[in-house]
Amino acid sequence: MPARVIDGAAIARGITEELRVRVARFAAAAGRPPTLGIVLVGEQPSSLIYVRNKNRTADALGIKAEVIRVPASSSIDEVLGLVDRLNQSSAHDAILVQAPLPDTIAAGTERVFERIDPAKDVDGFHPVNVGRLVQNRATLVPCTPAGIIEMLEREGVRMRGARAVVIGRSGIVGKPIALLLLHRDATVTICHSKTPDVPRIAASADILVAAIGRAAFVTPDFVKPGAVVVDVGINRVTDAGAVGRLFGAQSPRLEEFGRRGAVIVGDVHPDVADVAGAMTPVPGGVGPLTIAMLMKNTVTAAERRWRGGT
Ligand code: GUN
Repeated sequence: MPARVIDGAAIARGITEELRVRVARFAAAAGRPPTLGIVLVGEQPSSLIYVRNKNRTADALGIKAEVIRVPASSSIDEVLGLVDRLNQSSAHDAILVQAPLPDTIAAGTERVFERIDPAKDVDGFHPVNVGRLVQNRATLVPCTPAGIIEMLEREGVRMRGARAVVIGRSGIVGKPIALLLLHRDATVTICHSKTPDVPRIAASADILVAAIGRAAFVTPDFVKPGAVVVDVGINRVTDAGAVGRLFGAQSPRLEEFGRRGAVIVGDVHPDVADVAGAMTPVPGGVGPLTIAMLMKNTVTAAERRWRGGT
């Protein structure tokens, strides 16, 4: 039986619908909507799409998202100055600086994230928020891993006592999802580019999280029959032959390729559906959950500021 497909978009809609009451309550008390400042440096196409999607979701929910766009030629001091202004602004509850920064200032990314007031850091990237996550007392958790946990909880996936394997050790996904699973009493292994025999380790997992950024890297031999497979990958494949090999000559994905010249493919090979018990699709899996959790973090940050908490 093919794996059950977990509908991330439907779960994301559920999360945002639940937020409506909190948004309305905040707006009534504060006299303004929860407000997120998004800093976008330059014109990277994928960043433009991400920011547009964040903006749309916020609008639909009654959250104010103010996008501050500055040219790719901006200096790191200019970006830090913008963050300072948003930190000091009483009208902004939340701040997000869209990554990646342009190559010329990419080396300053950590400095920029560290400059954001931890109470407004809805990405959860500030060292204070990372530290709180390690201590299992986080309030603002990075959005993608937080979304994965919400999804697993809402799908009734048992984490306590489960074996979880995370492939990828990034600060944005791999490390935080490993901590969140650990805090829910899973036994967690993190695999990375220097790990020998990743398929064997992955095949011990009841919950397998693929967050490596390599199209279709996780093949059926990585997967224990019945496992829950979470695909975090967003890989743009521009080779028609590769799309045909992955999805088959009759797949609608080939037609999509014909229209767009590329398709988005996850880190998990489509054939994993023959082995897994449940899996998230790409697109329509983890992606929408990330945006829903950004909205949730924005509302949480707004409520805590209003109550005078941190
Ligand atoms: N670029 C891609 N994903 C993210 C994210 O979650 N946060 C930020 N700030 N930039 C991103």
